[in-house]
Amino acid sequence: MLSLENVINQKLHNCFEKLGLNPKFAVVKVSDRPDLSDFQCNGALALAKEQHKNPREIATNIADMLKDDADFEKISIDGPGFINITISNNLLSKVIFDMSNDARLGCAQVEKPLNIVMDYGAPNVAKEMHVGHLRSAVIGESVKRIERFVGNHVIADTHLGDWGTPMGMIISEIQLDHPDWPYFDDNKKDGFPDTLPYSVEDLTEIYKRANARCKENEDERQKARIITARLQDGHAGYRALWQHLRRISVDAVKQNFDKLDVSFDLWLGESDAHETCYKILDIAAAKGVSEKDDGAIIIRMDEANKPKPPVILQKSDGGFTYHITDLATIKMRVDDLKADEIIYFTDKRQALHFEQVFEAAGKLGIAPNVKLQHIGFGTVNGPDGKPFKTRDGGVMKLEDLILLSENKVRESMPEAKDVEGFASVAEAQKYIDELVSEIAVAAMKFQDLKNNIASGYAFEVDDFAKFDGKTGPYIQYAVARINSIMRKTEAAGIQCGEIIISNKEERDLALKIAQLNNIIWRTHLEKEPSIISDYAYSLAQTFSSFYNASSILNAETPQLAASRLRLARLTRDILKLLLYLLGIKAPEVMLKK
Ligand code: ARG
Repeated sequence: MLSLENVINQKLHNCFEKLGLNPKFAVVKVSDRPDLSDFQCNGALALAKEQHKNPREIATNIADMLKDDADFEKISIDGPGFINITISNNLLSKVIFDMSNDARLGCAQVEKPLNIVMDYGAPNVAKEMHVGHLRSAVIGESVKRIERFVGNHVIADTHLGDWGTPMGMIISEIQLDHPDWPYFDDNKKDGFPDTLPYSVEDLTEIYKRANARCKENEDERQKARIITARLQDGHAGYRALWQHLRRISVDAVKQNFDKLDVSFDLWLGESDAHETCYKILDIAAAKGVSEKDDGAIIIRMDEANKPKPPVILQKSDGGFTYHITDLATIKMRVDDLKADEIIYFTDKRQALHFEQVFEAAGKLGIAPNVKLQHIGFGTVNGPDGKPFKTRDGGVMKLEDLILLSENKVRESMPEAKDVEGFASVAEAQKYIDELVSEIAVAAMKFQDLKNNIASGYAFEVDDFAKFDGKTGPYIQYAVARINSIMRKTEAAGIQCGEIIISNKEERDLALKIAQLNNIIWRTHLEKEPSIISDYAYSLAQTFSSFYNASSILNAETPQLAASRLRLARLTRDILKLLLYLLGIKAPEVMLKK
């Protein structure tokens, strides 16, 4: 099924061919001047440059031929040679009708599905998740859903940070507290306790203390590095203790991700790449790309490219680095998961790390023909423009943020005793609680995804959870409103019928709806969910104007009522799809004060 733009492009293509013009320029875009036309084609200008001719003359030839097509209501030439196209209501109605009958709402799919591994969320063992992890999880989850929707095969892996020096720091801190615990007996090989009496909060505290101690003292840092190297090397006690740390952290992280409706196919971490790290060392040696430098094994970067520090594969104490675990993980993703593409979502500050890793992967030849991409995002700031902190100046934890959002949403919720339609107040309260968490997540995610990925954004503490304005709850509310309209109209015996365009608002809505395929395709190509959020907001607004102008229950004729109901249902289905692609739930019924 062809989208509206594709239908028009096809017609232009035929026209260009007949006129002997390069059909590469036969493309339209939504008009910059909606008061003049629906679409515009700027191809005549590009052609004129190529052929050293007058653009208006070329445009006139094209326009003259297009005028014969009844699907075009009006063709005009504007300025130096823009071709303005107004389509017929007939064509518009037909495209909308077909969309509404299509399970994919007229959206295209990729011709050849790719295997894409996505690496997002990526929390670290024993460190609490903060707003940076929120961005990574929220953006990654959305891009995953979009890529799956267009037909690609995505494997989501939250690459846990579980193999670096922080592990040695925590182990050494625990040893200071409990030197008698069996984990520190170098001769003991098995029979370690099944549980560890720590919560994730305890671990965070321990990590903080360890961090402070190591910061002050090089000897302490060195001790932690040695413990890390021995852990990696297979020290039985350290491994047993580390297993506990990892499990406690993963359980906590899973709870957070569940709340956020973020999910993964794999829960692998840096540690899972350990064995493959040795292979990387072998490959590097065999290819002659690595060298010894002050006891460490490194790969130097090409000077021809932007000068970058070398990749360190193995430190002088034998420990593996963040670089090598990432290289080994690339090798595993290519060999075992058959990745065609690997996409990483982290803070922009890791850009250099990924540039180094990708260049080293090229030298090692471990990912031939695999597209490696790092999508770096900006930081979440507070109202003061500095990284978002709690009121007392601490790092904003993900849990705090969820709580903040839920509290904001509750301000807009009615009291359970005032809500009708539930068997009891307790039932109403249960529904409200569920709603609060779904709306709170929507508010957080939408405020993130409405911003360009690369730029940071300021957390709109006062506005992000409002039910009006460019927010997640506003879009959720638009869906619930259409649900309610549909319940009422269907109760009145109205059914969806043919599309008839009888006024400006219906036409505006239909044109907006017809952009869907293009919007999704652009989001897929640019990996930029804000394109979807912008469109969702504008569609919800356009629907609002449509509904204010065009009653369904009191439509002038039954045919118009049936047409409007179809437009309403299609708008609802699109908004639900868009929310889904942003990782946001669409409650059937919304409540507000
Ligand atoms: N755990 C890291 C952090 O919290 C992010 C890991 C990103 N993924 C990767 N394969 N390096 O900063």
